[in-house]
Order: sequence, then structure tokens, then C-alpha cells
Amino acid sequence: MSKVAIITGAGSGLGQSTALRLAQDGVNIAVVDINEEGGNETVSKVKELGADALFIKADVSKAEEVKNYVDKTVEHFGSIDYFFNNAGISGSGKYFLETDIKEIEQIVGINMLGALYGLRYVAEVMVKNGGGSIVNTASSAGVIGQDTVVTYSATKHGIVGMTKSLVAEYAKDGLRVNAVAPGPTETPMVKAYFDANLEMKKNAEAGIPQKRLGTADEVAELVTFLLISKAQYINGDVIRIDGGFTNTK
Ligand SMILES: NC(=O)c1ccc[n+]([C@@H]2O[C@H](COP(=O)([O-])OP(=O)(O)OC[C@H]3O[C@@H](n4cnc5c(N)ncnc54)[C@H](O)[C@@H]3O)[C@@H](O)[C@H]2O)c1
Repeated sequence: MSKVAIITGAGSGLGQSTALRLAQDGVNIAVVDINEEGGNETVSKVKELGADALFIKADVSKAEEVKNYVDKTVEHFGSIDYFFNNAGISGSGKYFLETDIKEIEQIVGINMLGALYGLRYVAEVMVKNGGGSIVNTASSAGVIGQDTVVTYSATKHGIVGMTKSLVAEYAKDGLRVNAVAPGPTETPMVKAYFDANLEMKKNAEAGIPQKRLGTADEVAELVTFLLISKAQYINGDVIRIDGGFTNTK
């Protein structure tokens, strides 16, 4: 029987690329996003590749909407084998003391609570069914400190913490939980930002040992490896994919 993956933030960037990569391996996808247009685009592209897909609109910062995307997935596909817990926002890039409380609440709500709610409901189904594999999206900012991203960095360090600690509790029940920590990666979000700030793009590339940004397809390949490969003994790890960026800090 075909395997089933839930991907949050699947309407764009890393989530969409991973949906298409998994579909190439015949995995059916529950496409979760707040953005209907992007979500429906991903569904069409997955179906073109011959896998099944269902768009479920949800704001991951709302626990009841998270429970709903988990219930709808089980109802439609019958199970959840893989979970790419990926939806996130970056914030304004202001220095911390210039950041207003609303922005702090929004970033924590989506990146941190959204990820925790997803793990809470998805892991419950997986443990009941004998196990499953999860990849959470951290970031370079989840493994090193950087300026202008204090709140974002706090949430991404949080992703690392929840990844490791879940394994401590549920690896015995068949759960594998890992995180990816991408450096600057050319997704629509980042591309729009750098297109408007070419100088910043040049500076970012100069700071990366490989002298280029990552691509969404490269991250999708890693996530697919962690989710579905025979690497069944990798658990609670955080894999950096950043052209050497954080390893040289
Ligand atoms: N692109 C990078 O350089 C980079 C680097 C490190 C980590 N990340 C992380 O990767 C993840 C994906 O980012 P991306 O670069 O693909 O960005 P993106 O903006 O291209 O995609 C993010 C998707 O998440 C969705 N989303 C946002 N808020 C949501 C909410 N409340 N509920 C449901 N969906 C929501 C958006 O609609 C969008 O489709 C994020 O967690 C981000 O922090 C990105």
C-alpha cells in the first residue's frame, strides 16, 4: 500500500519541493498550508506525478486547525507514515529591541507552537499505529546565534529541543524524529527578499564557504532520505545543510 505524508507549509518553498520529491517515490501527500492558491498548486503537481494529494487549509498556530488536518488526513488516506513539520515564517529582520510584541507572538505561535501542536497530534497517531518518521525544519539560526533573528532563532533552537526530547520518550514506540537545519536557501520567500536587496545576497553568499545559496531541491532530497530511507538508526539528529556555513562559525 502507498505511504502517506503530511507536509505543513507545502504550498511553497521547501514544503512544495519535498512534496514533489516524495511523490516521485509514490508517496501520497496531505498538503497543509494557510495559502490556498499555493496548496492547490502543489496538489496539482503531485497528481501530475501520479501520487494522490489532498489540500487541507490550516493555520498551524491554531491547535484546533492542527487537530483537523491530522483527522482529515487519517479520514482520507487511512494512516500517517511520514510528517514534514515545516511551516514557518522568518519575521521582519529588525533588531530585537525594535521588534514589537505582536511580531514575537506571531513567530513563536507559528514556528514553535505550530510545530509542537503538529507533533502532539501526529505522534499520537503514529505511536498508536506502531511508529512513523518525522522531520522538523530548524535552521542555521537553530544551531548558532545570529543578529536580527532573536525570536526566530529562539523558535528554531526550540525545534532542535523538541526533536531530541521526543526521541527520548517515543523511540521505543517506533518513532524516528530528526531535524534539518538549512542555511539560506533560494525559496520564493528568500528570493524575493534578496532580489530587493542584491547587496545582502552578495554578502550572504560571501559568508558561505561554498559561495552560493542552497536550493529547495537539495533540502527536499535530504528530508526524503531522513523520512523514507533505510537509515532507520538515525534518530534525534539535526542535519545541517548549509554549504559549510555554520561549521565555519
Ligand atoms: N529558505 C530558507 O533560507 C530557510 C532556511 C532555514 C530554514 N527555513 C525554514 O524552512 C521552512 C519553510 O520555509 P520556506 O523557505 O520554504 O518559506 P516559504 O515562505 O516559501 O514557505 C513557507 C510556507 O508556509 C506557509 N505558512 C506560513 N505560515 C503558516 C501558518 N500559520 N499555517 C500554515 N502554513 C503557513 C506559507 O503559506 C508558505 O506556503 C520554515 O520553517 C523556515 O523557517 C528556511
